[in-house]
Amino acid sequence: MAENTPSWWKTGTCYQIWPASYKDSNDDGIGDIPGVISTLDYIKELGIDIIWLSPMYDSPQKDYGYDISDYQAIYPPFGTMDDMDELIKQTHARGMRLILDLVINHTSDQHKWFQESKQSRTNPKAEWYIWRDARMVNGERHPPNNWRAIFGGSAWEWVEERQQYYLHIFAKEQPDLNWELEEVRLAIYKEAIEFWLDRGVDGFRVDTCNLYSKDVSFPNADVVLLEEQYQPAFKHFENGPRMHEWLQEKRRLCLSKYGDILMVGECPGSDRETVLSYVSAARNELSCVLDFDVVDLGTNRTSGGKKHHSYRHQLPEFKLALAKTQDLIRTTDAWGTVFLENHDQGRSISRFATDTPQYREAASKMLALCICALTGTLFVYQGQEIGMYNHSADWTIDDMRDIDSINAYNDVKHRYGDDPVWNKKAMRGIATVGRDNARLPVQWSGEAPNAGFTPSPDAKPWIRVHDDYKNVNVADQLGRKDSPLRFWQRMLKVRSQYRDLMILGDFELHDLYEQDTFTFIKKPKGAGAGAATGQELLVVCNFSERENPVDVPARLRDRKKELLVSSLGEEAAGKYLRPWEGRVYLFEEK
Ligand code: GLC
Ligand code: CA
Repeated sequence: MAENTPSWWKTGTCYQIWPASYKDSNDDGIGDIPGVISTLDYIKELGIDIIWLSPMYDSPQKDYGYDISDYQAIYPPFGTMDDMDELIKQTHARGMRLILDLVINHTSDQHKWFQESKQSRTNPKAEWYIWRDARMVNGERHPPNNWRAIFGGSAWEWVEERQQYYLHIFAKEQPDLNWELEEVRLAIYKEAIEFWLDRGVDGFRVDTCNLYSKDVSFPNADVVLLEEQYQPAFKHFENGPRMHEWLQEKRRLCLSKYGDILMVGECPGSDRETVLSYVSAARNELSCVLDFDVVDLGTNRTSGGKKHHSYRHQLPEFKLALAKTQDLIRTTDAWGTVFLENHDQGRSISRFATDTPQYREAASKMLALCICALTGTLFVYQGQEIGMYNHSADWTIDDMRDIDSINAYNDVKHRYGDDPVWNKKAMRGIATVGRDNARLPVQWSGEAPNAGFTPSPDAKPWIRVHDDYKNVNVADQLGRKDSPLRFWQRMLKVRSQYRDLMILGDFELHDLYEQDTFTFIKKPKGAGAGAATGQELLVVCNFSERENPVDVPARLRDRKKELLVSSLGEEAAGKYLRPWEGRVYLFEEK
C-alpha cells in the first residue's frame, strides 16, 4: 500500500553533528568534515538514518557558524567543498541522508550583502537589512526601541556610515535580513537553499524559522526587567504577521522542485495552534518542528538570558512538555519531533535525570528507552549516545567559549562586581543550562589528555575536554555489553522493529501527577483512547533512585504481557522498577 508508506523523514532517526567539537582529523584542535567522514560507519552502526550537520559555512565564528559570511563556501578549518561533496556521497553510499542547517534569519556582518548594505542609504542593497533612524531624546541618540537582543544588550547597533541603527535579534555581528523585500527572499532561496539541494543534500534544519517576520512598527516591548534598559521582545518578532505567506512562497517557488525533502524548523516560543499552523500536512509549510517545551524546562524566557535563574523542574512538567507534541500528532494530520538535546542545551542526563556517578549510566539508558518509544522523528545529539554529561560548576569563565554564556556571566559581574558568591552562582547556572555543555569535544577514547578527539595527544582542542572522559567514552562503551552506547544501538533496533507503535503510534499518558515515574501507552495510530487494539506497549520509566511499582492501567491487567526491554537487563528485572530503570512491556490481545 504505497500511499501508506510514511516518508523517510518520519521513520528515520536523525543524529546531529556540531562540527567543531565532533572529530578533528588534522590536529589543529578543531573538528572537521574529514573527521565526520571517518565516523560514518560508527553512525550507521548506531542505527542512524539521517545526519544533521550544524553550520559548516564560512563564518567569523562569533556565534560558531550561526553567523554565515558565505552560504556557498566552507569554513576553511572544517574542510573544503570537495570534502562536503565527499560527505554527501559517503553518507548516501551508506543509505543515510544528510541535512544542513539553514540560517537565513540573519547573516554575519561580514557577509558581502551586509558589507554593501551598510555603506549608504542609497546603495543597491541598502534595504536588505533592517535599518532605522535613531530616537533622539533631549538631543541624545537612542536605539529605535527598547528591544533586548537574545544574547543581551540592545537589539540595535549604530553604523556611522549610514547614521542609522540596524536590527540584530542575536549578536551584533548577526544582522537580521529584511525579509519584507522580495529581492532578498529570492536571493536567499537561490544562494542558501537551491545551491545545496542541487548538490544533493536531503533537506534542512531551519534555524529560528519563526523569526523572519517582525512587527515592523517596532513598538517598545513591555517592561518586565525593572532595573534594565532593554527588554525581552519575543512577542514582537516571533511568529510575525507574514510568516505563513513567506513559508508558502518558499515551498512554492523553491522547495517544491526537489521532491520529498525534510524541512524541520526550529520553533521557539510557539503554542500548539501556532505549531499546527506551520506543520499541518495540508499546509505543508514545514515538515515538522523542534519545539522548545522540553528544553525550556527550568529556564525562564523572559528573564533576559540569566542562566543563574534556572531551576530544577518537576517531573509532571516534563511529561506535559513531551505530551504537547505527542498529542498534536495523535489528533491532527501533523507530524512532530522528539529530542532532549542539541548544541544549545545542557546535557539531558544532567538536566532531566541524574549525573551522579552511581546512577549516571542507568539514567542515560532510561532516557534513551523513554524517548525511543515516543512518536515523531527522533533526534540524537553527538555524545548523547554515550551519556556525556554537563561540565563541573567549578570550571571558570575562561573555560567558556559561548557568547551567550560569557555575556550572561559578564552581566552578573557588571551588576555585582567581583563578589565571589554571585560569580559562583553565575557559573552554576552556566554549568546547568549553558550551551558549552553540549560543545565539549566528543570523547572517543580514554586517551589523555584529549579523549581521542584529536589524532595526536599533543594537539590543543579549541575548548576544554570534559574531566570525566576516562569513564565516559566511545571506545570503552563499544567494548561493554551493558553500556549506554550498546543500549542505544539496541533501542534504535527495537524502535524500527515496533515502528507502528513506537514511531508512528498514538501516545496516551497514564500517570501525569506521579513524581517518581513516567508511564505511557503506545498503540496503533487512530486506535482511540481506552480501546483494546491488539498489540500495545506500556512504557514505564523510573525517574528516581527509589524502587517503584509498575503501574499497569486497569484495562491491560488481564492481558498477556511480555517484558520486551529493561534498560537494566530483562533477566534481573523483578516486580519493582529499580532506581532509574526503564521498561517496555508488550501487551497482546487475550
Ligand atoms: C539558533 C541556533 C543557535 C544560534 C541562534 C542564532 O537558535 O540553534 O545556536 O545561536 O539560532 O542563529
Ligand atoms: Ca581539524
